[in-house]
This record gives sequence, C-alpha cells and structure tokens, in this order.
Amino acid sequence: MTSISQSALATAPIYEAGPKDPWWRHAVIYQIYPRSFADANGDGIGDLPGITSRLDHLQKLGVDAIWLSPFFQSPQKDAGYDVSDYRAVDPLFGDLDDFDAMLKRAHELGLRVIVDLVPNHSSDQHEWFQAALAAAPGSPERERYMFRDGKGANGSQPPNDWKSVFGGRAWTRVTEADGSPGQWYLHLFDSSQPDFNWENPEVRAYFEDVLRFWLDRGVDGFRVDVAHGMIKADGLPDWDAEQAMIAKGDTPAGTPLEELEGDDEPDEDTAPGDGNEGPMWDQDGVHDIYRAWNRVLADYPDDRALAGEAWVHDLERMARYVRSDEMQQTFNFSYLTSKWDAQHLREVVTESLDAFGSVGAPSTWVLSNHDVVRHASRLGLPVPGSLPKGIAADDAQPDERLGLQRARAATLFMLGLPGSSYLYQGEELGLPEHTSLPDDVRQDPGFFRTKGAETGRDGCRVPIPWDPDAPAYGFNETGESWLPQPAGWRKYAASAQYGDPHSTFELYRSMLRLRKEHELGTGSLAWVEAGLEGADAQNSVAFVNGDVLVVLNLEGTPVSLPKGAEVLVSSGELEIKDDVTNVPARTAVWAKLG
Ligand code: NOJ
Ligand code: CA
Repeated sequence: MTSISQSALATAPIYEAGPKDPWWRHAVIYQIYPRSFADANGDGIGDLPGITSRLDHLQKLGVDAIWLSPFFQSPQKDAGYDVSDYRAVDPLFGDLDDFDAMLKRAHELGLRVIVDLVPNHSSDQHEWFQAALAAAPGSPERERYMFRDGKGANGSQPPNDWKSVFGGRAWTRVTEADGSPGQWYLHLFDSSQPDFNWENPEVRAYFEDVLRFWLDRGVDGFRVDVAHGMIKADGLPDWDAEQAMIAKGDTPAGTPLEELEGDDEPDEDTAPGDGNEGPMWDQDGVHDIYRAWNRVLADYPDDRALAGEAWVHDLERMARYVRSDEMQQTFNFSYLTSKWDAQHLREVVTESLDAFGSVGAPSTWVLSNHDVVRHASRLGLPVPGSLPKGIAADDAQPDERLGLQRARAATLFMLGLPGSSYLYQGEELGLPEHTSLPDDVRQDPGFFRTKGAETGRDGCRVPIPWDPDAPAYGFNETGESWLPQPAGWRKYAASAQYGDPHSTFELYRSMLRLRKEHELGTGSLAWVEAGLEGADAQNSVAFVNGDVLVVLNLEGTPVSLPKGAEVLVSSGELEIKDDVTNVPARTAVWAKLG
C-alpha cells in the first residue's frame, strides 16, 4: 500500500498559475482527421459537411477548439499533406462554401477552428512545381524548390546522401524538357512532396498570402506541419542517418516479451532524438519565418495562434519555437513518447514546464494523433507505451482491456496538467488502433517506400464509429469506408456511450467540465513527492494543481488518498475500505482537497 500524507500536500509549486488569456494557453483542442470523421455524401471519405453535421458531439464533449488536418486541394498521395492548391478545398471534402458553413457553425457553438498549413513541401502537382519541371536549371521557377545538379559522371548520383522520412532516398532525378536526364529535387517525405526553397523571398511572400487568405475567412489559427524542417543547413552537408518522424527509441511491435524484459533503458544509439537530428532539422533560420508569421497574425483581432509540429526532442530547443515573438504553441512530442513509468513521466513533465515556462509559454500535452499508434493500443503492448510504426496482424497484439484501462488513466493525468491539451478524434470513445488491416488496403506512403518494413499509420486513421447499428457504424449512410473498420467497434460507437456513466465518452466529458470548473489549464503544479510513501511508491505519481490532487497509480499496489479528499472523477473503479479511498493499479483520480 502507498499513501499520501497530509503534510506532503503543502509542497510549494514548481510551476505557478499562468494567465487565463489568451485562450490557447489552456485550450483543449480536438484534432479532426477529415477523411475519417463523418461522411455526408456517402462516398466513403469524410468531408466538411460531415464535420458540420457532427459538431454538436464536440460541443457536448466540451472541447474549446478543433484542428482540422488538411482538406486542401491535393492528389492525396500523403492523405492531403501534399497540397496542390493552398487556397482551394479538395472536391473530396467539399468546397469553400462548405468550409465557411463549417466555420460559422463551429463559432456559433463556441469552438475555435485551427487549420493545417503545410509549408515545408507542396504536392508535385502544385502549379509552381509543374512550372519548375518545365523550366530550365537555374531558372526562377526552379529556385522555388530545392533543385541541385547530381554528383558523379553526368550527375547520375544524388547531390547528397539524405534519406526520406518515409524511406528511400530524399532526392529524385527529373527529365529535362529535351528528354535528357536532369537535375535532382529534394523531398524529405514522398517523391510527390518536393521541398520548397525557404531562402527564396517569393516562397515567404506566397505563404504570408496563404495565411491571410484563411485568416480573412475567420480561422483562429494554424497547425504548422514540419515546422522544424523548412530551412536546411548551408551547403546541404551529407547525413546518411535513417530518418524518422517518431524517435527511434521505439520497440517494434513484434518484439518477443523475453527480449523486452529488463530493457527499460534505451540504448545510447536508439535514444529519442535519433532520426530527428541532422542538417535538415531545427536550423536556427526557421525562427525568422515564425517571427514574420507572428507579425501577420498580430494584424488580426481575437488572438489567432500558431501551433508548431516540430519533432525536436530537446525541450529547450523546442521551447525556442514559442518565444513571445514566434509561435504560440508547439506539440510536446517528448510527452507523447514518454514511457509508462512514473519517474520518466515526472521528469518529462518537470522538464516541459521548466523549458516552456522559461520563455513564458504554456506547455502542450498530447497522447495521440494521426501519425502514431493510438494510445489505447500503445499502452496495451507488452511494453506499455512503446512506439511501433504501426501494428500489423502478425505482430504481437495489444491487450485491448489493459490498454484502455491505462489510456483512461493516462488521459486523466494529462488533462490535470496546466497548459493546453490535444485530443485525437476517437480517443474520447476509447478507440483502439486497427491492428489487422490487410496490406492491400493500406495507403500510407511510408508502408510503400519501406516495402512494408514499416506498417505505417493507417491503423490510427480508420473512420470512427458513431452508431452501433448503422452502416459503417454511422460514418455515413452507405456503409462505404476508405479503410475498413474492424469487427468489434460496435461497443465504441458514440451514441452507445452517451449517458452511460462508465463510458469513456462520459469520462472525457466529466474531465473537461471539471478541468474548466477548477481552472486546471491555467493552474499550477506541485509534485507530491516526499508524500508518496510505501514500498511501491515508485509506481505512482501525484501532484497538486490548485485545489485538486491528481494521482496516477501506474502499476503499483493501491495508493490511499488522504482523509478528507473528495473524489471528483476517476478513470476506473476505486476501492473504499474503512473510510479510506484507494486508487488501484492502472487508475488515476482527481480529488478535491478540503
Ligand atoms: C507531419 C504530418 O503529421 C504527417 O501526417 C505528414 O505525413 C508529414 N508531416 C509530411 O507532411
Ligand atoms: Ca464524402
């Protein structure tokens, strides 16, 4: 048994209450993946009218804002992260009128709206890239992208040895207008996603116009894709390390349990940070871009915001993106990739609050998104919280029940932290990853470019269930679905969870209501460290935020709450014995201090 003593609750906070304004300092932001949220026209792909029709779900849930992954015109080679026209809606998702209607409805419901900006690269179908292909080497058209002559005889070798994040090399050779083998262009991702040349003022001016286009329509901000990649080191020096969006400390899903046991310290050469370092990432020059964008947003009223997607693992480097004249938020991937381990969790939270606090910014917190295995499944793996690049049918399968139990506890812990939190569509339903998609339906370019060595991200992108008894679980009326939904998702359907006090949806709803009531997002944090006493104390973590005690018992013997603490919400059943409330393993609780 582990107990929390009264005296330990009086520890001074390591992080003090932040300002209540602007909204992004404490907002809970819900990520909508438009292809998979709701499909109004029944073609099997989610769309903007579908989103509008389901916004009441989000109001009921109680989030403050939504972030939409790309819905812009795109050949969809990377699910829309390959944009061919930044100012147009792809017909798959609707049109600009549909966008305006969605935005209007969201605002009526009190939801702010953030859209996704993809500035590191465009689609190869973008008019500028097509013009660059048609133009000659050295032309202004080619100067908008990263064209270089090849090395070796006849330029037949790529300009350097960089690798693509999706596998294979990061360069593709073009054929010149006269039919001869020509220059090479850089693509840190798929060959259909050529990198822009951000040293070119024309590119900078173009994106400022794109920002204004959406700001004028009324969006509340932008999530900035690959925010750490736009500037490359001078001379493009060689760097042949494998690239990875997710740090390579991952444990492959199929790793047998006996190889994992006792291996809780990552090896030096696989520590997080690997795969995200090199002359293409986190160059100082990116910050000038965000300073300029900060000035663009400042021309508009109502606290518009930028949220950077920068896979930078050094939290102090990460905090540079949110200095007061740059972006407002940046995703905390160190938190997302943290292990299911009390000490590690404490360290990551402390370091995050220190690093972001030192530049006056709030921390963000996130557990799931469209690029990683859903946390309800990650936390059900043999090593809970390990980060495989997708899970396939012949990999070790997550334990669904344990995963969900841990996921509910992990989210209760996260939403108790001061700062802003991101939720990924479906996690409020307790949705697991689809771990048995057949290879012939997969769409992730990472799967194809690695020839299947990486399972990829399709498993977290499956259309979400709304209604247990409708076709495609209510995703649409036709039963079409761009990725098949697994059998067994009936129980996760939203309408089956509404009003059920044990459902994950109602848990999320209570958390979001109480988080507002107790102002946890703008609160403070004091670890209850010395106060966690007992043999198993290292398996638990607890902090006080304002008048709320947050306790997470990861895997230990029960933790008893101090007398007089009134339970506000818990992620699972608590044990009450002789007037003492105990928090069992894989359970978290918020309790009001008397
Ligand atoms: C990060 C996005 O989240 C991911 O989905 C995309 O594939 C890459 N950036 C490339 O745009
Ligand atoms: Ca559709």
